[in-house]
Amino acid sequence: MEKLTILYGTETGNAELLAMDAGKHANEQGFEADVRGMDQIDVDELCNVRRLLIFCSTWGDGEQPGNAQDLFDAVSACGTGTFSGLNYGVLALGDTAFDLFCESGKEWDAVFEEKGANRLIERMDCDTDYEDDAAYWTESSINEMKTIE
Ligand SMILES: Cc1cc2nc3c(=O)[nH]c(=O)nc-3n(C[C@H](O)[C@H](O)[C@H](O)COP(=O)(O)O)c2cc1C
Repeated sequence: MEKLTILYGTETGNAELLAMDAGKHANEQGFEADVRGMDQIDVDELCNVRRLLIFCSTWGDGEQPGNAQDLFDAVSACGTGTFSGLNYGVLALGDTAFDLFCESGKEWDAVFEEKGANRLIERMDCDTDYEDDAAYWTESSINEMKTIE
C-alpha cells in the first residue's frame, strides 16, 4: 500500500481535525495514511517522504503555530535539493481579519518549492468558514496523489 503522510500545524485543533478527516479519506482510497503533528516528525524522516499533505493554521501576527515552528526552521535550514523526491500540497487555515492572512501555510508552500519539492496541488487558503472548501481540497488532493508512483 502506498503511504501518504499528512502533517498538521495547529494551536486549537482545527487543522488537526482536518488532517484526521484527510487520513480517514486517504485510507478509504487505498493509501496507508500517516497522520501526525509537525512536532512528531523530524526533518531526516521528512526527507524520505514522497507524498505529503500539510494542514497548517497561522497564529500570533502571521506566525507558525506552536507545534510547527521547530520543523519549519529545520526545513528552512536544509539545502536546495533536499526535498526533490517530495510531492506535496498545502492547505492553509487563517482568518481574513488578520493582515498576514494564512501566512504560515504560504511559508510552507514556498519553502518546499525552494528546497526542490514538487507542488502537486495548488495551495488553498481558507478563511474561518472553511469546511466545504477544505473537504473539496482534501478529496481532490488525495485523487491527485494517486498519480504519483
Ligand atoms: C490569537 C490568534 C491569532 C491569529 N493570527 C492569525 C494570523 O496572523 N493570520 C491568519 O490568517 N489567521 C490568524 N488566526 C486565525 C487562525 O489561523 C484560525 O482561527 C484557524 O482556523 C485556527 O486553526 P487551528 O485551530 O488549527 O490553530 C489567528 C487566531 C487567533 C485566535
